[in-house]
Amino acid sequence: MSLEPLHDITRLRGPVPLVHLLLRHFVRSGGRAVDATCGNGNDTLLLAELVGPTGRVWGFDIQQEAVDGTARKLAAHGLGERVTLVAAGHETMAGRLEAGLSAVVFNLGYLPGGDRSIITRPATTAAALEQAQSLLAPGGIVALTVYPGHKGGDAERHMVEEWAARLQAPLFHVWRMGQTNATADAPYVVIAQKGV
Ligand SMILES: C[S@@+](CC[C@H](N)C(=O)[O-])C[C@H]1O[C@@H](n2cnc3c(N)ncnc32)[C@H](O)[C@@H]1O
Repeated sequence: MSLEPLHDITRLRGPVPLVHLLLRHFVRSGGRAVDATCGNGNDTLLLAELVGPTGRVWGFDIQQEAVDGTARKLAAHGLGERVTLVAAGHETMAGRLEAGLSAVVFNLGYLPGGDRSIITRPATTAAALEQAQSLLAPGGIVALTVYPGHKGGDAERHMVEEWAARLQAPLFHVWRMGQTNATADAPYVVIAQKGV
């Protein structure tokens, strides 16, 4: 099934296509992955497509509206069976799934088109990142899209940078990827790959 243009990665406009490119490489059929922030379900949908019929995806969001919208999107593509949606914070992921994940995706900030006061928060994101790094399979990635521009976003950016700096090579390979010809507070990507 073709999911274009939802997953259009022909234009590297903003961080999401970049993350999707990486996910297409690292998440394989039969794999297991987490969307830590379902929002409108675009990353969950891609992960569900990539893990195939024998894989599994877990999707988390604290907003029922986001979980319901994601469920509808998956159902429209016939992929709902592959995904466990959890209407709870990603900081609870460790108690809900086993280690061996190919990818854990965080798209921080607020739900596009939703309530902008409901944002990811440094304390809970930090707890989830610690869990995610433990749950990764060797070679698996945590992919974060960081949004410093909104109220509260700068504090979260600092937390993410501190977390990333604590990950020691060669146990983890950590990358920061931002668009050079964009404003200083433009969103950017942090990737942490667990060493093989
Ligand atoms: C930028 S949006 C995600 C966009 C989404 N990836 C997409 O494809 O549309 C961030 C989401 O994180 C959710 N969120 C905030 N705190 C959370 C938490 N502790 N655990 C899980 N989700 C959370 C918000 O409700 C919001 O829907």
